[in-house]
This record gives sequence, C-alpha cells and structure tokens, in this order.
Amino acid sequence: MIIAANLKTNLTRSATHKYMQEIEKYSKASSSEVIIFPAMTSLDNFKIDKTIVGAQNAYPTVNGAFTGEIGLEQLDEFGIKTILIGHSERRHILHESQEFLVEKFNYFKKLGFKIVYCVGEPKAIREAGKEEMLTYITKQYEGIDTTYENLIIAYEPVWAIGTGITPTLEDIEDVHTELKKKSPAPLLYGGSVKVNNAKEVLNLNNVDGILVGSAALYAEHFGLMIQYSDEL
Ligand code: 13P
Repeated sequence: MIIAANLKTNLTRSATHKYMQEIEKYSKASSSEVIIFPAMTSLDNFKIDKTIVGAQNAYPTVNGAFTGEIGLEQLDEFGIKTILIGHSERRHILHESQEFLVEKFNYFKKLGFKIVYCVGEPKAIREAGKEEMLTYITKQYEGIDTTYENLIIAYEPVWAIGTGITPTLEDIEDVHTELKKKSPAPLLYGGSVKVNNAKEVLNLNNVDGILVGSAALYAEHFGLMIQYSDEL
C-alpha cells in the first residue's frame, strides 16, 4: 500500500519538522510506503529514514529565470527524488496544460524521479455520465508514459477534493477498475479521505493506496490511516 499526504499550502517549516518526526514513527512501524509532500519552504533534509519526502511541484529545469518556481538544483539540495505532477489545483487554479504537464513528466522521468501523477474529472463532467467522464480522464493520460517504472497514479475527482464529499465506494472501485486498464502503475484514490472512510477505501479492489489532503494535516489522523493500511 502507498499512503501519501499532500500538505498543500499548510504548516510552517517548524510545524512540518515536528510533523515529519511524528509520521516517521508510524511509517517505520508500517509495511506501507509513506510519502509526504510538504510546502516548498518546508522541504528539508529531515532526519528520517523510511518516510519519502516529495515536492508538490517543480519547474522542468536545473535552474534559471522562472520566478516563483524551484528547479532540480533546489530539489537536489535536499535529496528530493519524488514529485507530484498534474494535481487538479495546478491544472485548474494555475492553468497548467496537459502539454506542459507532459513536459514536466518527461523531464523528471528522465531523471528517474518517482512521479505521483494525478487525474480526475470536475463535477459537470461526472454528471454528464460515465462515458464522458472516462473520455475526459483519458485525455489526462495523453503523452504520459503509463508504463514508467517509477509511476504512481492518483485518481482524485475534483469535486471530492476538500469538500467532504466522496464518490460511493462502488463508484471508486468502478473508476479504478477502468483506470487500471490504462496503466499497471499503483493507483491511489484521493478526495476527502478521512479517518472514518480510509479503511473502506483502502479495502476496495484496484485501490493501491490513498492521497490525503486536509485530514493528513493532523499527524495522528494520518498516522491512523497508515496503521489501517497494515490491517487489511
Ligand atoms: P482532501 O483530502 O483535502 O480532499 O484533498 C485531497 C487532495 O487534493 C490530495 O492531493
């Protein structure tokens, strides 16, 4: 199982340090792979052995004139070899195009990075029916090497992110079963995963883990989810 936390634009540097030490305890006691994506200012050489630290974003460059971005040089400083690409907040709020995401994907793939690549449909697309939804998601696979050995895919319906609303368990399993036909990569579910639904989600067929946002901000909640992954 892969249990991942996207901390987004939350927690200070000192709070993240404390958080990492807490999570490392759960992580060490677990057979699951635990990945944390802290805010950019909180990337560091945390004194941890097991938990993997990834970047929420980086520009496909070693360094250069890309105001507000970080590149490989900044990731290398902290030994970061894992990156999140295609998160819906970057697609929809920051308007990153599929073409640009492919460029990022290829850049970090060439460097051997572990890539957590996100896909997912907005509400209107989901409401238009299953066929429309799958057509939409299929476009998010365009240009992506779905057989890349260090690829992890996360299915995150946009309307379920940060809303407290999730698809039914049947719907999650159904979409995951469809997406599994597109890539052999481990497939995570994300979108309003909480302590009270994590176990059920992790138990579904074709769900290889979870990508958690808000509920992961509490180390003890995220820690419980890590423990659940070992109980299945
Ligand atoms: P929430 O868990 O807050 O819905 O966020 C999910 C997410 O976007 C993880 O990347």
